[in-house]
Amino acid sequence: MKVRSPAATESAARKDAAPARFDVAAVRKDFPILAQRVYGKPLIYLDNAATSQKPQAVIDAIANYYSESNANVHRAVHALGARATEAYEEAREKVRRFLNAGDAREIIFVRSATEGINLVARSFGAQGLARGGEILITAMEHHSNIVPWQLLCEERGARLRVVPMNDDGELLLDEYEKLLTPRTRLVAASHLSNALGTLNPVARMIELAHARGVPVLLDGAQAAPHLPIDVRGLDCDFYVFSGHKLYGPTGIGVLYGKAALLEAMPPYQGGGDMIRVVTFEKTTFNDLPWKFEAGTPHISGAIGLGAAVDYLERIGRTAIEDYESGLFRYAEEALARVPDLVLFGSKTQRRGVLSFNLGRIHPHDVGTVLDRAGIAIRAGHHCAQPVMDRLGVTATARASIALFNTREEIDRLAEALVEARRVFG
Ligand code: ALA
Repeated sequence: MKVRSPAATESAARKDAAPARFDVAAVRKDFPILAQRVYGKPLIYLDNAATSQKPQAVIDAIANYYSESNANVHRAVHALGARATEAYEEAREKVRRFLNAGDAREIIFVRSATEGINLVARSFGAQGLARGGEILITAMEHHSNIVPWQLLCEERGARLRVVPMNDDGELLLDEYEKLLTPRTRLVAASHLSNALGTLNPVARMIELAHARGVPVLLDGAQAAPHLPIDVRGLDCDFYVFSGHKLYGPTGIGVLYGKAALLEAMPPYQGGGDMIRVVTFEKTTFNDLPWKFEAGTPHISGAIGLGAAVDYLERIGRTAIEDYESGLFRYAEEALARVPDLVLFGSKTQRRGVLSFNLGRIHPHDVGTVLDRAGIAIRAGHHCAQPVMDRLGVTATARASIALFNTREEIDRLAEALVEARRVFG
């Protein structure tokens, strides 16, 4: 089985075919779910950090796969098997291009960003984490980038260290530098925080870690939907993201890893597809990337994710980023005008996510009032309880934007918040 080699030059593929103008009305028509009403009100979906909605192109790609090409991959000699395998590996190539990775062997399909982190913890982490070693994470991680490392450290007698953040939810880089010691085996940090929206200075963090020979994993679950990602430019060692936050299906995610690291790592799970030869005495393993893809993979998920990547590239990643930054600034200003609203996170380095509390009203009540106005947000700890502890709150309300949101929707959100404050006093 051959994985397609990278294009000789990436520049053409990476260049966004940005349309002259980002047409949000046209984009909205691509998302059938947005046309509905909730409690008689037009749906305003602002829970994209939890999961985003899916364009028709993704829905069609999945339906077409099951209608026309469904078969298992890498196994069958028949026509459908060949077609399914081609579509699956083509999706890998699309993801490679999306991340600007150098080689499709470096793209592992997993269930989610969470599984990607668990894979690295189990395989890479277990390899080099002798007693006394340390894993360095940050104070703004969500549980998926805390618990796998905790489990690993407990098992290996290693230590989990945490880079602190300031009251504005920004990492303290000087503390980070101090925490990088000869004992540090890996840095695992979010690219963009899910609970605060802080965009971390990851290029500098990687530079500092690499100067000490420490590899870096970036959790891109929140960053990938909003920013062009360039794993080679960043020089990160591992990068993970989830399909479902990137307008793709649930149950599919990606782990990017530098080939040299992945080659040296032991398999994560055993089963079909990841083997070369099995006897009862010994098993030898398949090449990358399949060494890490045990069992029948999520074929339709990968194809749907490939369609999501195509969709974003058709619109243009830079055009999306520009549109979203304007919308986000508008939202920050609109929320800042709501009386008694406290907005958490960095004032300068925030993207995509607006985490807030409204007076003394419980975030769940805020979420319920907004729901009745047709507005979907998330309220709670956002799978990041240590962030809530650091903020001194039990929960926040969180509005998170996507490329299909509009300024009118933000106005409706602000009005509904003013109304919530009036109702609850
Ligand atoms: N990590 C996801 C969120 O932020 C579930 O909502």
